[in-house]
Amino acid sequence: MSFSERIFQKLNDIKNANRFRFLKEPSGIDFCSNDYLGLAKSKDTINFLKEGITIYGGGSTASRLIRGHREIFSTLEENFSNWVNSESTLFLANGFMANIGLLDAIKDKSTKIFCDRLNHASILDGIRLSNCDTRYFKHLDMNHLEDLLKKSSLDDEKIIISETIFSMDGDTANIEELIRLKKTYNCILILDEAHALGVYGRGGAGLSNKDGIDPYSDIDFRIFTGGKSFGLEGAFISCSQINKDFLINTLRSFIFTTAPLPAIAHALNKLIPVIRNMNIERELIYKLSDKLRLFFKENNYSTGNSSTHIIPVILNDELITMNLASKLQANGYDIRGIRPPTVKESRLRINVSAHIKETHIDSLCSKFLELV
Ligand SMILES: Cc1ncc(COP(=O)(O)O)c(C=O)c1O
Repeated sequence: MSFSERIFQKLNDIKNANRFRFLKEPSGIDFCSNDYLGLAKSKDTINFLKEGITIYGGGSTASRLIRGHREIFSTLEENFSNWVNSESTLFLANGFMANIGLLDAIKDKSTKIFCDRLNHASILDGIRLSNCDTRYFKHLDMNHLEDLLKKSSLDDEKIIISETIFSMDGDTANIEELIRLKKTYNCILILDEAHALGVYGRGGAGLSNKDGIDPYSDIDFRIFTGGKSFGLEGAFISCSQINKDFLINTLRSFIFTTAPLPAIAHALNKLIPVIRNMNIERELIYKLSDKLRLFFKENNYSTGNSSTHIIPVILNDELITMNLASKLQANGYDIRGIRPPTVKESRLRINVSAHIKETHIDSLCSKFLELV
C-alpha cells in the first residue's frame, strides 16, 4: 500500500468510526476555552501586548542561548517565582514544550517514572521521549502509587509526576500525599499546574500554594502555562536555581527553539499583579461551578469527581455526546464533546470562566434539559 493509500484508508477508518475531527472557529458563549479569567480579550492584555510590541518589536530572532535572550524574560521569571513561591523559574514557549522535554532532560540511566494514568498527552509524550522505565498508577490512587514505589529498588532514582487539576476531569491531586510519598521514597516530584494557575491557590498561584505546603522546598518542578488563565501563551518551569541552570544546559525544547516573543513576556509580566488581584472573579468561578455541578447531580448526570471549574458531564456514549454538543452549539453555547481516544468515557467538558454570568448558567441548565 502506498503512503497516500494508507493515509486515505486511515482517514476513512476515522470517518467510519464517527471520529473525524475538523477545525471550527469559536462562536457562542464560551464554556470551553481555557481563558479562565477572561483575560484574552481584556483591555489590559491588549494594551500590555501593544506596549510590548512597541518596546521590543517582533520575534526574538534566535534561541535564548544565542541572541534571543532579553532582560524582560529574566524580569518575568523573577516576578513569576515570587508569585508562585519558587526559588527560580524558566520561561519557555508553551506547556507542551515544557512537558515534552523536562523528563528527558533530568533523567538518568536508572530513573523510574511514576505517572498518573490520566496525565496530559504532553506528559505522556515526554515520558516516551525520555525512554524511562515507567509505572502508571491508577488515577489519583495514592495507595496504588505507594505499592508501586515500595516495589522499586531503593537505589533507583524515582520521579513522580501528576497534574494538580486534571484537564478532562476537573478533579484534583492529593498534593499533601504526593509530597509525603516523595519524601518517604526519596523521589523527585513534578506537578503540572496548567489548569490551576490563576484560579486556585493563594493569589491564584496554583494549588501548591496553600496552607500546609511549602512549594519552595516540597516540590522539585512545577509546570505552569501562559495559554490558559493568562489568555496568552508560554510556559514556566518553577524549580530551584541549580535545577534551572541545569535545564538551561540540557532542556532540548528550550535550547533548540526560537525564544518566545519578548512582547508576550512583557504582557505576561504585567498581568501577574492583575491576576493576583482577581479574588472576586475567582470566588465567582467557584460559586457558579458549584451551582452548575449541583444542577447536573440533581438531574442524575455524572460529573465524575470534579470539584473545580472544569466540569465533565459524563454521558459515556460517543454519538449522544457529540449530538448533544452540536445541539448546544447550535443554540449558542460553545460546549464541546470529548471522546475516545482523548478520554475513555465520552463527555461534555464544560469550563466555567470569569466571563460567565449566573444568567448564562441558568439559561444553559434549562436549555440542557430541553435538548437532552
Ligand atoms: C495539564 C496540561 N499540561 C500542559 C498543557 C500544554 O500547555 P500548552 O497549551 O501551553 O502547550 C496542557 C494543555 O492543554 C495541559 O492541559
